[in-house]
Amino acid sequence: MLDKIKQLQEEIGTLVAKSKEETEQLRIKYLSKKGSISQLFDEFKNVPSEMKREIGQALNILKNQATERINDLKETFEEQGNETGSVDLTMPGDSMKPGTRHPISLVKNEISEIFNRLGFKIAEGPEIEDDWHVFSALNFPLEHPARDMQDTFFIEKDPDVLLRTHTSSVQVRVMEHTQPPIRAIFPGRVFRNEAISARAHCFFHQVEGLYVDENVSFSDLRQTLLYFAKEMFGEDTSIRLRPSYFPFTEPSAEMDISCSICGGKGCAMCKGTGWVEILGCGMVDPAVLDSCGIDSKKYTGFAFGMGVERITNLKYQVKDLRLFFENDVRFLKQFESAY
Ligand code: PHE
Repeated sequence: MLDKIKQLQEEIGTLVAKSKEETEQLRIKYLSKKGSISQLFDEFKNVPSEMKREIGQALNILKNQATERINDLKETFEEQGNETGSVDLTMPGDSMKPGTRHPISLVKNEISEIFNRLGFKIAEGPEIEDDWHVFSALNFPLEHPARDMQDTFFIEKDPDVLLRTHTSSVQVRVMEHTQPPIRAIFPGRVFRNEAISARAHCFFHQVEGLYVDENVSFSDLRQTLLYFAKEMFGEDTSIRLRPSYFPFTEPSAEMDISCSICGGKGCAMCKGTGWVEILGCGMVDPAVLDSCGIDSKKYTGFAFGMGVERITNLKYQVKDLRLFFENDVRFLKQFESAY
């Protein structure tokens, strides 16, 4: 045993390594659980008791020497930072790859720019809201299903604190603090308690818009949305408005665009109909204007709201919504050239 210890001591005295990895190999060879020094410690229990003292001391010295030597080697590589032991200043630098914008941000920005050109300013508000701004001021009846636990994430009850289910809450905040003319858009994240699938998620993004002034009419709304559709999806795009219902607009409509993928001929995206729904809209209900302190006898307004994921799907044909939120760089990199 003593011979073995001696032999290992000599070996360790002359240990060299060319890299961090080689140093690690040495550590494994000598000091890991199965390493040669640890094995000697295992054999120590068979040493006759009169030899235990001498061999025990020698073993401890050996272990300390090996640990010290290997730590020294490790330190040199950590300090030098490269394998040859000196820094080669002529080496080319690592190029820095700039990040890419998220597809949802790209499309949100594009939507915002189109409405900016028509004079709509961006306004933002909190994601954590109260009942008044998300529901009551917007004319939602008390028993409306959207208030239900199934749709809304409540943080506290009585008084209600909740995650906003739409960015219409920001419309209320702006109207409470500003007198018309108001022309603003509200991009932001919203939350709904839905099971996550390829077609639904528990949070997504919206851009809503609001225009309140004297004599704002439904044809102003239609023309604004037609301009948006053509700017976003191309000059050949047509729109159609179908009657619908929202508590905060009267009359209300849903807007379809001619399918941007098949050009209206019928495909999987438009389910063969040639049309795809992209937003909800309508004339702001006079009761909403009054709740927010705007004289509904003097002013009228229109509002609209769209889901950014939906618009992005149409533009880039992303089939599974979940891809937007997984942040897999292989997916995100595909939008590198999109600006
Ligand atoms: N807030 C509605 C929604 O989230 C969209 C909408 C906005 C509809 C404005 C009409 C007017 O579905």
